[in-house]
Amino acid sequence: MILETKRLILRPWCEDDAEELYKYARDPEVGPPAGWPPHTSVENSLEIIRTVLSATETYAVCLKENGKPIGSIGLHRNDLAEKDDEYELGYWIGKPFWGQGFIPEASREMLRYAFEELGMNRIWCGYYDGNEKSRRVQEKLGFVYHHTTEGLEVGQMNEIRTGHSNLMTKERYQKVELFREQKKLLDTFLETGAISCAQYEKSFGDLCDLMEMHGVE
Ligand SMILES: CC(C)(COP(=O)(O)OP(=O)(O)OC[C@H]1O[C@@H](n2cnc3c(N)ncnc32)[C@H](O)[C@@H]1OP(=O)(O)O)[C@@H](O)C(=O)NCCC(=O)NCCS
Repeated sequence: MILETKRLILRPWCEDDAEELYKYARDPEVGPPAGWPPHTSVENSLEIIRTVLSATETYAVCLKENGKPIGSIGLHRNDLAEKDDEYELGYWIGKPFWGQGFIPEASREMLRYAFEELGMNRIWCGYYDGNEKSRRVQEKLGFVYHHTTEGLEVGQMNEIRTGHSNLMTKERYQKVELFREQKKLLDTFLETGAISCAQYEKSFGDLCDLMEMHGVE
């Protein structure tokens, strides 16, 4: 499966990606916050492509402009998502690309794909205590806090951490998308002169009130 967003292509990892993968996955600020150690060599990255990133529904996040992989995103079944209609969303992106909204953009497409094409009803997403960047991504996507687990064993890091788990139901996803569409529509109306600034501000204010009522950012 190949998925597409405005700036990104999401496609399965291939062995030729090892060098690019190593470039970003060697960074100690990338893997450890997500629970895995930095890659140690291009060969190690190749091994990870063969053993981990080859899993079903795991995608290389590639820039459309040059086709190169800059991160990874995937839907997994695990302790949190154990039922047939649930998955857990996981992601990371190379440090040079942080802060440009790439993972929220890729995640929105993954959510669409999971709910609309794979027939899922619940998508979980978690982060370890202190990972504010990931917490923020989930907040922006509209995930809702579900529970906190203390004493989680992070096997690959030989550490015990606290994990926070958030949930997106299909119903909430549809609501979040509806609000997003309405906002886009208002922006287009304003840009094309179909409504005045005053009309925009009034409608935008009403929309924000509605969104706040439903806990959507
Ligand atoms: C978490 C992560 C995937 C976010 O991806 P992203 O595409 O940068 O997401 P965003 O652009 O929406 O940025 C999210 C937040 O990160 C913070 N941030 C952005 N750029 C940053 C930078 N250069 N340095 C530190 N923090 C930064 C900001 O708080 C931002 O929130 P904002 O949009 O409200 O300002 C990325 O930081 C990452 O790969 N981290 C390491 C791996 C990881 O933690 N994975 C998730 C495991 S649960």
